[in-house]
Parts: sequence; structure tokens; C-alpha cells
Amino acid sequence: MTPALVEVRGLRKEYRRGTEVVPVLDGLDLDIASGDYLALMGPSGSGKSTLLNLLGGLDQPTAGSIRVAGVAIEGLSSNELASWRARHVGFIFQMYNLLPVLTARQNVELPLLLTRASQAERQRRAEAALSLVGLADRANHKPGELSGGQEQRVGIARAIVTDPDLLLCDEPTGDLDRKSGDQILDLFDALNREAGKTIIMVTHDPRAAARARRILYLDKGALVREER
Ligand SMILES: Nc1ncnc2c1ncn2[C@@H]1O[C@H](COP(=O)(O)OP(=O)(O)O)[C@@H](O)[C@H]1O
Ligand SMILES: [Mg+2]
Repeated sequence: MTPALVEVRGLRKEYRRGTEVVPVLDGLDLDIASGDYLALMGPSGSGKSTLLNLLGGLDQPTAGSIRVAGVAIEGLSSNELASWRARHVGFIFQMYNLLPVLTARQNVELPLLLTRASQAERQRRAEAALSLVGLADRANHKPGELSGGQEQRVGIARAIVTDPDLLLCDEPTGDLDRKSGDQILDLFDALNREAGKTIIMVTHDPRAAARARRILYLDKGALVREER
């Protein structure tokens, strides 16, 4: 059997606004095998982004455990978490989150600043990642000189430049037209099937979700239904 890359047990998350407690995730259990491609759907406000951020160590759970590749990430200090994240996780966001003053290549190099890669190595790897997403000829363009679909492909290059096991994608096609969105989904297919990346993609789009190997629905703090 394929070992679980991600093991979530009894995961709870609540936010506090002043004295008010906002419960979001109410004791989730979830196993994600290495090489899986999971779509996560659910109503707005159901906690999809919260779950993704917890899986990537961007936020701390209220209770429960998250193991990724055998590491209990809720037990790491913030420094350990930052270096763990740099090695194991790539994030892809709906609005790309590129830095507008940097070129595509400089944006893609950013995660490598948290590693020991030399400047020459950073440049070589950023160029390789940009080639992989079909943007070798746009390396010196700034985000404002690119289309939305191209910006998202730079976002994907930035996410894969450190060769992480896990790609966490939060509505990656949510701001794109169908054609650009399909190109992004084609890239995810290749990253999953050829490069063996494990992908968790939050999406509202049933067409995008249908590309995944399985679909999970989050509602009222619980995972309610699974389609295979
Ligand atoms: N930093 C925060 N502080 C307080 N409440 C938050 C915070 N982030 C998210 N929430 C609340 O948690 C719930 C889930 O949010 P989110 O995970 O963004 O949902 P989704 O991504 O499914 O739309 C919402 O009610 C939202 O308002
Ligand atoms: Mg969200």
C-alpha cells in the first residue's frame, strides 16, 4: 500500500474575534496518499482555506495532529516550520501573489532564498521551473507584463522550484478564463502523473474538481462526502 503522505487526526480549528469564538474545523480525520490528487470543495466560509493553510503549516491548529511525511508539524517551532515548508510544500494562490517589482525569474527564485542554493543554482533552477511551465521566454518580464494565466504559471513555477512533495492550491483557476484555467489544470495533471507530486486543490469549479483523482466536500466543519 502507498504510505500516507498526509495524516490528519482530530483536527480542530477555531478563530477568536475578541471574546467571540468562531469554530471552523470540528475534528477532521483525513489520509492523503503520496501521489494523490485531491479536490476539496464546499460552500464559501466552510473552512477550505483554513484546512489548506493548516496542512501547509501556515497556521496552527486549535487541537489535533497533522503529520506530513512522518513529521508532526504542529510540534515544530516557527523557524523549524519555515524550513520544513521550504522543503516540502508549494503553495499556489487564486490571485498568484507575485511581487510586482520582481521579474518572473526573481519571483520564482524567492523560495530558494530559504535554502542553501547559491545564486547561480537559484537562477538555474528558476529557469528550469519556468521552462517546465512553458515560460522560458518570459523570465525577464514583470507580473504586470503577463496575462493572468501566465502569472499563474509563474506561481506554479515558484511553487515547484524547491521540488516539494506536496502542492497546495487555493482556487488556482478561480480568476482565469476557461482556456487559461485548462492550461493550469493540464500542468497539474502532468505534475501529478509524471512528476509524482501530491496535489490538494481547493476549487468551486466542478470541471476543475473532475480532473482530480478524488473529491472531498467540507461543510459545517466536517468532511461530508467523498467521490471516487
Ligand atoms: N484569521 C481569521 N480570523 C477570524 N476568522 C477567520 C479567519 N480566517 C477565516 N475565518 C473565518 O473562518 C471561516 C472559514 O474561512 P475560510 O477557511 O477562509 O473558508 P473558505 O476558504 O472555505 O471560504 C469563515 O467563517 C471565516 O470568516
Ligand atoms: Mg477560501
